[in-house]
Amino acid sequence: MMDGPRRGARAPSRPAGGLGEGTEGVYPPAEDTHLLLAASLKEVAPEDAVLEIGCGSGIISKALRHRARWVVATDVNPAALRRLRREGVEVLRADLFAGIRGRFDLVLFNPPYLPTEEDEVLAGWINFAFDGGKTGRETIGRFLEGLRDRLVPERGRALLVVSSLSGPDEVEEKARSLGLTVEVVARERWFFEELLVVRLSPTPSAGAGGCPGRGFATGRDLREPI
Ligand SMILES: C[S@@+](CC[C@H](N)C(=O)[O-])C[C@H]1O[C@@H](n2cnc3c(N)ncnc32)[C@H](O)[C@@H]1O
Repeated sequence: MMDGPRRGARAPSRPAGGLGEGTEGVYPPAEDTHLLLAASLKEVAPEDAVLEIGCGSGIISKALRHRARWVVATDVNPAALRRLRREGVEVLRADLFAGIRGRFDLVLFNPPYLPTEEDEVLAGWINFAFDGGKTGRETIGRFLEGLRDRLVPERGRALLVVSSLSGPDEVEEKARSLGLTVEVVARERWFFEELLVVRLSPTPSAGAGGCPGRGFATGRDLREPI
């Protein structure tokens, strides 16, 4: 895993042994995790229903679960969810919003964002932590398309990690075109990249009709046993 793609300066510092037995292929907390964690702790309110997409080690969901009304953590990687479930966190195996019907006050996502060519794809689940497709924005784009319909209309908001490696201007443009207001709430510069946490909320004037993501289907529903 350490020989694979780099998420900026962070990859070399990752623990070579992963997170322990049965968690092979799970992304260990790194600088982007901690940036999102800090922003989430500032953002969360006790009345929030929180959805963390792509929870990985679960460090963020665990930190929030006694600070919010309800927290559910999802991932495509079953190994990420097994241990978290044993630790008492509500988990759901899902591809982004597929199969998720409710609306949330706060949605969190530290996505796979590295631009990745076909010959750079890693074997196993760990690839899902890195592989953002050719532009780095493949998963981010699908996330943005589904987001508005999963947010509580008045107070719903999301925190998304965006890297300078995956075209923050394009991410912002897409979010705005989908009726979302974008605000940078945290940023950190590393040798290889700058990391941002952006806060996304429904733009009031855009209305539900201004959301081309409505009805979006991923074609994959991974709600199978973990
Ligand atoms: C960069 S890791 C972040 C993990 C953790 N949230 C953190 O900050 O340390 C990205 C996570 O998103 C998950 N993931 C990737 N694509 C996904 C998708 N389409 N739906 C749900 N989770 C996904 C990966 O399996 C991985 O656990």
